[in-house]
Parts: sequence; C-alpha cells; structure tokens
Amino acid sequence: MEHTIEVNKIFAKDVVNALNQTPKQLPSMYFYNAEGDRLFQKIMALDEYYLTRAEMEIVKSHRAEILKSFLGGDANFRLVELGAGDGTKTKVLLEHFVNEGTDFVYSPIDISQSVLNQLEEGVLKAVPNLKIDCIQGDYFKALSELNSNHLQKEVLLFLGSTIGNFGLEAGKNFLKELSNNLSSGDMLFIGFDLMKDPRVVLAAYDDREGVTRDFNLNLLKRINDELDADFDVDKFQHYPTYNPITGETKSYLVSREAQQVHFKAIDYTLELKQWEAIHTEVSQKYSFQMIEEFAQYAGFKIVRHFTDSKELFVDSLWEKV
Ligand code: AVJ
Repeated sequence: MEHTIEVNKIFAKDVVNALNQTPKQLPSMYFYNAEGDRLFQKIMALDEYYLTRAEMEIVKSHRAEILKSFLGGDANFRLVELGAGDGTKTKVLLEHFVNEGTDFVYSPIDISQSVLNQLEEGVLKAVPNLKIDCIQGDYFKALSELNSNHLQKEVLLFLGSTIGNFGLEAGKNFLKELSNNLSSGDMLFIGFDLMKDPRVVLAAYDDREGVTRDFNLNLLKRINDELDADFDVDKFQHYPTYNPITGETKSYLVSREAQQVHFKAIDYTLELKQWEAIHTEVSQKYSFQMIEEFAQYAGFKIVRHFTDSKELFVDSLWEKV
C-alpha cells in the first residue's frame, strides 16, 4: 500500500529556502510542534535555563508596580499578549490585576486557535473573573484591527525574550513595525535576556541532560515526519556558541560525516560535507544600552526597567511617543 503524506507547502518552502542559503540554515520557528512544545517545557525547568525563573521572579516581585505603571493616569486598558505560550508568567499578573479590581480586558493573540482555546481554559481556571477576548491571527493584522476599532489604551506584552530569536536587525525592524501599529500613549512590556557571564549563557543552551540537544535535533525529526525525509539524527552534533561582544547565542547542527539526505515528499536532496554546520537558532542577549537604542529607533520612550535580583533578565516597559 502507498503512503503519501500531506505536505504543508509553506513549511516545505521555508525549509528548502533556509537550507539553500550559504551557510545553511533552518527556521527556528519550526521547533514548536507537539514534541518541540514538550521539550521546551522541559527546558524551562532545567537548572541551567535561568531565563524563565528570572522573569518569573520579576513579575512576582514587581506586580504591584507593574500594574501602577500600566495604568499610568488612565482608568483602564486592553492587555494584548503576543505569543503567550502556556501563560504561566502572565497568570501572575492577571491574578494580581483582577484582585485589585482593575478595569481591563486580556487579549492574547496567536495564529493557532487551538493554542488560544487551551490558553483560555488554563487562564480562566486560575483567574475565573478575568475578562478575556482571544484574537486569532497574524500579529500585525490583529494589532491594526485592534487599533482602528478601539479608543482604549493598549498595553502589549511580549515576554520570554522571544524577541531574541529574531536576532538584532530583524528584531529592530519587528519592534518598529509593532510601534507603527500602536497609538501615542500605548505601551509595550517586553522581556530581554541580558548579557552576563558567558559560561552561564552558554550552559543554558548546552544543558548536561541534553534536553536542548534533543530540542534542536527535533527539527530534523519534524522534517522527517512532514517531508518524508531520512535524517539520521545520530549523524548530527548539537553545537551552541555565545559571542560576548555581540551578545549573539547561536545554535547549530553539525554534520559528523559527509552525507546526503533525501526529502521524498518534495523530491529534494540535501548534500552535507563532513563538519558542515546548519544554523538553527539565534537567541540574542542584550545590554541596557542596546535596549535603549532599540526603544528609540522604534519610537518609544523607556518608562522603567524591571529586573530580577541578579540582573539576569529585564522586563522593560516602553511608551509609544
Ligand atoms: C523561547 C526563544 C526564549 O531562545 O532562549 C530555549 C528558545 N532555544 N533553548 C530561547 C530556546 C533553546 C528560547 N525562547
């Protein structure tokens, strides 16, 4: 019996485009299939992965000040979240805001309706009196619709240093585009992972248990599943690097031997030389100076930086000028 798989054309095109670059790449946004989500949950619980705990400390210890700053002089706001994930950190803020009797609506935006359904269920379980209004769709489309339909102040949440995955140039452009979809007085509360001891950064992407290795290799398994490819993951080494000058943390999959990989569903062959690397992810780290330059470039003024006690991470609150 013949087994043909349904090919997602956009996935196939993005993967092939990235592999045809010099040096070869793969898009990090495709880490997050069901197995990738599961592995990322495990990463967040690792000793070495300080990011999630540091940001959790920030929202827990500064929640009262964060609420005051979100309100500013206003009576209410719409809290719009980009890429909420499982919402663990957001729940801390939502619970506090509701307990304080704050007049606000929570609007998570995600491309996936099933992600939104799960998030809504989880958040309402923790915070039953919350006013929640999910928006399914592309970030920018959703934002431009919000902005043309509402006179209310918007506060955007973009947690987790997700911005780091864009790298420096694309990150700047993304923030500028966000800004273009906001009105004067709207706010952005955004997480940045700070530059720190290079060994601490590197260990977060090279944990002893090898969970991050599996997370990286899972991208190859996903391509095997969805494009009927024949990657042998044992022929690849997970290799992260940190550049303490630029703050770039890059992850690679290095081919241990010369090899050919066949993508049967799309009739594509990938040739790899021995020790040739595929660049799979950038997780940018920032200095306060870089953050200030970003804010200014994108048309925001910095209201306040909220950091954890060790200054590993910052949630920075910006106001659109
Ligand atoms: C979800 C983008 C913040 O870059 O630190 C974790 C993803 N990659 N370990 C990060 C990730 C490898 C993570 N972000």
